[in-house]
Amino acid sequence: MQEYQPFKEGKVREVYDNGDTLIIVATDRISAFDHILKNRITLKGTILTQMSKFWFELTKDVLPNHMISTDTKDMPEYFRQERFDGNSMLCKKLEMLPIECIVRGYISGSGWESYKADGTVCGIKLPEGMVESQKLPEPIYAPSTKAEIGDHDENISFEKSIEVLEKLYPGRGEEYATKIKDATIALYKKCAEYALSKGIIIADTKFEFGLDENGDVVLGDEMLTPDSSRFWPLDGYEAGKGQPSFDKQYVRDWLKANPDSDYLLPEEVVGKTIAKYKEAYALLTGKEIQ
Ligand SMILES: Nc1ncnc2c1ncn2[C@@H]1O[C@H](COP(=O)(O)OP(=O)(O)O)[C@@H](O)[C@H]1O
Ligand SMILES: [Mg+2]
Repeated sequence: MQEYQPFKEGKVREVYDNGDTLIIVATDRISAFDHILKNRITLKGTILTQMSKFWFELTKDVLPNHMISTDTKDMPEYFRQERFDGNSMLCKKLEMLPIECIVRGYISGSGWESYKADGTVCGIKLPEGMVESQKLPEPIYAPSTKAEIGDHDENISFEKSIEVLEKLYPGRGEEYATKIKDATIALYKKCAEYALSKGIIIADTKFEFGLDENGDVVLGDEMLTPDSSRFWPLDGYEAGKGQPSFDKQYVRDWLKANPDSDYLLPEEVVGKTIAKYKEAYALLTGKEIQ
């Protein structure tokens, strides 16, 4: 049997190369305040992979995506081990475009900081008198370039995203930049509206796109998980202040109250956090995680 080693190991995910496909595995690791915590959140990896699967299926008519299967029977023999069950996705390998496509539906985080400073978010002038966590009149597209390891991603204008893509794909920069912008807004609108009807606000998120063998734009990476998005509970939402994170609320609160914990959570906080991930999955999909 062929053995596999991840060729890429991020904070939370592992990526395995399989020729013209990839196997992307979401682990049970959790990060907060830019650190990987010492605890594992049982089933978090499975929940995140199944959530991406849910959104990919819901939106395949808006834009094709890279998902082939989450069944390990469709993967090389090595992946038919319990530790890959449910948390792995076989994907079509794409040539990734070097743009992170961020979309903001609510004013929060760095967007809120920017608005307080000069009344704009991502270069867009907004009405006066907006308050923190308020819904934006229209979702805002905020591309950024992927930084080398260690650097922070750099926000860029839409025009700059055309330039970056034009350099890589002469004659097609504007076409690709427009396509990923329009897809980002369309995917966000459809899914945020759906999530809202289930009690979850998706305040913002990030998509990554790539090109298939025909040069067509395809959605890649993970989709609308709490790791790539800000999820807020609709219950208790009130503009004018910061909102609790749907999934990491207990973790962040506890870490703030226990600065000397060395990133080891008590079991009680782990248990409550597992329950939040299960709740998010059940609310969104109407199904219990297995
Ligand atoms: N279908 C795909 N084909 C090729 N690369 C992909 C595909 N989907 C996602 N990727 C890439 O896989 C990597 C996943 O790594 P990740 O764990 O998110 O760490 P990071 O974002 O820090 O690089 C990213 O570089 C992403 O762009
Ligand atoms: Mg990533």
